[in-house]
Amino acid sequence: KAIKRNKKIVALTAYTAPIAKIADDFADILLVGDSLGMVLYGMDSTLTVTVEMMILHGRAVVKNSKHALVAVDMPFGSYQPSASTAFKNASKIMAQTGAGAVKLEGGAEIKETVKFLCQNGIPVMAHIGMKPQHFNTYGGFKFRGKDKEEFDNILEDAKALEEAGAFAIVVEGTTRNLGKRITDKVRIPTIGIGASPDCDGQILVTEDLVGMSAAEKAPKFVKQYTNVTEVMADALAEFAADVREGRFPTKEFCYD
Ligand code: KIV
Repeated sequence: KAIKRNKKIVALTAYTAPIAKIADDFADILLVGDSLGMVLYGMDSTLTVTVEMMILHGRAVVKNSKHALVAVDMPFGSYQPSASTAFKNASKIMAQTGAGAVKLEGGAEIKETVKFLCQNGIPVMAHIGMKPQHFNTYGGFKFRGKDKEEFDNILEDAKALEEAGAFAIVVEGTTRNLGKRITDKVRIPTIGIGASPDCDGQILVTEDLVGMSAAEKAPKFVKQYTNVTEVMADALAEFAADVREGRFPTKEFCYD
């Protein structure tokens, strides 16, 4: 079983071959997150993402990375009905992508499913706190752990998932204090996103970090390090002007 280590874990999302090639040099874990529905496809939530989409993107990321552990998200509806449904879909994702692990959103309520997957050879990364697949029941993307009952329940979720055999837990959108308490309470590494600097590692959506997302607005916890959208827009504007003014293609771009 994985245990905490002294070095912080760096995790990034990757959905495509070009991003996987770049991110693989810097990340310990590449997550093919179902956030791709919003970030790449411009959907309103992650709920419309399918197993087939995760397989196509997962395969591209595995094929184009060498070092990082690749984990693929199990999309909404693919693991909730039963442990055997979860195994059927998780094994299909693993077999058809070559990924090393899957990630499931949920707490104590999916403990038995996580245990079943782990006992049958599927490494599981858990995901608690703000769970985007609960978008409709939460009434949007809201951070968690404000009131005591919710705080205690999420702490119990973490313990249950560790007991079930998860090798790491993504903690998303919680109060700082809750992120720290979870990290102190479990032996497996916690990977924070909008949680706490005390987590054992951090993850961000790569497209958010570089300013290239189709999603409406990045959450408060995103640090945008550059603006690829602006860089691309400048390049495309130059191309459009070159074409319209007859400056492209010049002879070096033509076959004689
Ligand atoms: O879907 C995703 O990209 C995720 C990360 C934000 C943790 O679950």
